Amino acid sequence: MNPIQLFDTASSTYTYVLFDEASRQAIIIDPVDTQMQRDLATLREHGVQLRYIVETHAHADHITSAGGLIEHTGAQAATPAGCGIQPSAIQLEEGDVLHFGSQTLKALHTPGHTAGSMSYLWGNHVFTGDTLLIGGCGRTDFQSGSAQALYDSITRVLFTLPEDTTVWPAHDYKGQTHSSIGAEKRHNPRITDAVLGRMRTLDEFVQLMNNLNLPKPQRIDEAVPANLTLGLRHDAGAAEDAPRAVAASAGYSGDVSPQLAYRWWKSGEAHLVDIRSHAERAWVGFIPDVPGIEFKIWPGMAVNPEFDAQLKAAVPAGAKVLLLCRSGLRSIPAAQRAQALGFEAYNILEGFEGDPDSDAHRGNVGGWRKHGLPWRQN
Ligand SMILES: [Fe+2]
Repeated sequence: MNPIQLFDTASSTYTYVLFDEASRQAIIIDPVDTQMQRDLATLREHGVQLRYIVETHAHADHITSAGGLIEHTGAQAATPAGCGIQPSAIQLEEGDVLHFGSQTLKALHTPGHTAGSMSYLWGNHVFTGDTLLIGGCGRTDFQSGSAQALYDSITRVLFTLPEDTTVWPAHDYKGQTHSSIGAEKRHNPRITDAVLGRMRTLDEFVQLMNNLNLPKPQRIDEAVPANLTLGLRHDAGAAEDAPRAVAASAGYSGDVSPQLAYRWWKSGEAHLVDIRSHAERAWVGFIPDVPGIEFKIWPGMAVNPEFDAQLKAAVPAGAKVLLLCRSGLRSIPAAQRAQALGFEAYNILEGFEGDPDSDAHRGNVGGWRKHGLPWRQN
């Protein structure tokens, strides 16, 4: 069975979904933030449940949707320990194995593009990230890169896999989808000198890599810090007087800060609805006088089949409605749904508990409670 290969044209990134036929448990590799709805739809179409979100490294050219996928699916992030992606539940070391149903994904430490970079072996498939591309390899001139390490990773780790192992790269810029270890050994011009008809030596490879003179990646300053926190936002706490505009294609009316949501609610300008699960409201706390209408139901986080009817019963038709969840992610699809039902729907940024801090604790970085807005516990 092949992985499901998905492509992001803006960054030429391949995202992979693999799953176990019998148990329907799935893994996603290198998801892209702007493609999250596509990826969630792919999981739904195949009737699979996401267990792990895996990164090959901290990317410089796109932002991951890992943080969002955790919120939507309850899956765990598993990222290379050497990449320093602190919020991940699982810090992968060389040889670690992730189980999904009867399938396994094995982590191979393949440094060079970045010091922490990993490739992942699934049966006779290998996901090579930016370590090995089809007819190429990732650059080594920034982000802790090392041409020497990359040469070792390609020649001593990847090229010792069976020749018929299918290679699935993190990127391709020419429409190629996959290759094999044997084909890359023979034809990859970075590694093999076609004129001399032999593999380049370490020194020849290093010289080649050091003379590529590539421009700085366009999104590196923005993408790398965001990817070190699984793509979760860094601007929690910004107080704003107007909603933040969202793209027309977003399918809802805008994003508002907790403080602005509070003012709109108190002045009667908008209706506030808490869409967290009943369990979250009971355990973490609730806002007095605000209806609780679950968008997703714990455990399992399936969409509440009564959501539409309950929202229509609680809020007058066509009114402005503010949707609050835990961290401001689940409230986005809830706002899209409310907008589709004819409301003017807004997502409340940061949610009730805010973003996780560097110890993965919530409640310290932004959120309704952190801003001192009214709430209580039972
Ligand atoms: Fe990369």
